[in-house]
Amino acid sequence: MSQYVMKGGNPLSGEVVIAGAKNAALGILAGAVMANEPVTVEHVPMVQDIEFLLDAIREIGASVEVREGGTVVIDGSTIHKTMVNNDYIQKLRGGYYLVGALLGKYHHAEVDLPGGCNIGSRPIDQHIKGFRALGADIKVRNGMIVAHSARLAGAHIYLDMVSVGATINIMLAASTAEGKTIIENAAKEPHVVDVANMLNAMGANIKGAGTDVIRINGVSTLHGTDYTIIPDQIEAGTFMMAAAATKGDIVIKNVIPKHLESISSKLREIGCEIVEDDDAVRVIGRNHLRSTHIKTLPYPGFPTDMQPQMAVVLALAEGTSVVTESIFENRFKYVDELVRMGANIKVEGNVAIIDGVSSLSSAKVNSNDLRAGAAMVIAGLAAEGYTIVDEVSHIERGYENFVEKLRGLGADIARVDNEREARRFRMRAV
Ligand code: UD1
Repeated sequence: MSQYVMKGGNPLSGEVVIAGAKNAALGILAGAVMANEPVTVEHVPMVQDIEFLLDAIREIGASVEVREGGTVVIDGSTIHKTMVNNDYIQKLRGGYYLVGALLGKYHHAEVDLPGGCNIGSRPIDQHIKGFRALGADIKVRNGMIVAHSARLAGAHIYLDMVSVGATINIMLAASTAEGKTIIENAAKEPHVVDVANMLNAMGANIKGAGTDVIRINGVSTLHGTDYTIIPDQIEAGTFMMAAAATKGDIVIKNVIPKHLESISSKLREIGCEIVEDDDAVRVIGRNHLRSTHIKTLPYPGFPTDMQPQMAVVLALAEGTSVVTESIFENRFKYVDELVRMGANIKVEGNVAIIDGVSSLSSAKVNSNDLRAGAAMVIAGLAAEGYTIVDEVSHIERGYENFVEKLRGLGADIARVDNEREARRFRMRAV
């Protein structure tokens, strides 16, 4: 099982370039199958979740060409089936976007129920409610979601909670439904806007993405296009936290600073210096950080996907911080690992109370899930001594070239496949 081994304690410094947004890419690549012409998508992050989705898209018969530098060309004209069931799609959250896309295009879809990070129960009732409102018959059979409709018709849909996945999935299906769909209480995340922009570039008529009311006028077909994915807000935020935790100085390039506002403002509040440019942010860590309170919320609130990385920084900030997780109920599993590194954190329900310590110490820790794994790496790079982060396949689901990018910032880190390689790293022979 692959691990990352690192010798921490050095401030990270230098420049890092952020990849395209994984969670936007999942919706966009699924949407690309809706055209019967080639769709060229640029800045696709080559991470495991994307590779799994592309495998599923190939399996239904679409042609998928992956070019150097993160360009993917999908041609949906050769699709010959609407059933997606393989081992990979079950591991992936975003696989459910194929339901919306195939339902919209072929009025039929059978897709394995989604997996993804184990961060609490992750129902899809709002997706189902949306598809039903559009006229689809939805069943769950043999672990698959089966969606069928003789015809899809626009509808007025009020989401009971703000859901990124449901908003994108309904947008996909409704873009080729007959008539007008209105999604109320829609998610406003940057990747919702990105998927809407991409569908519009394919000929859809979607207005209001980025607000809580999205209006979609259905069109009969979608056509090919060229589209570039926005930068990954969470990858950028992760490097921002790495700068803060290691007291480093990192320039993070290819970002949209507006998407990072909730993260930047919290880092400023605890004492970091943030310098914003048009498409870059520089984060300068400080020796003495102050505590703060964080509550995860839908965009533009503080992202739940940044909660573990921020907790590492707060574990090293003077005073008592309170972190409230309001999106997923099981997102503090990493806390036990952090405590083994010397952090002083107590979890009560959906609240973590963090008493800052002056330093963390190295340990062998687990990744648990994608963002928790990234948080463990940040902790390991901030801690003195050698830390091993186990089960890094979680991290590689969502971070492109993570080790290489960290090494570019001066981190002493390597990916190893066994104990022998880990020992050799310690002896500087890797
Ligand atoms: C997406 C992201 C994930 C991020 C999350 C919140 C992808 C592949 N994943 O996940 O990284 O952490 O947004 O920003 O894009 N809910 C329901 N019923 C539903 C749908 C959601 O009860 O039908 C609940 C969820 O349990 C959760 C909340 O709504 O409590 C938000 O979930 P949602 O925004 O849908 O998250 P995902 O799309 O799964």
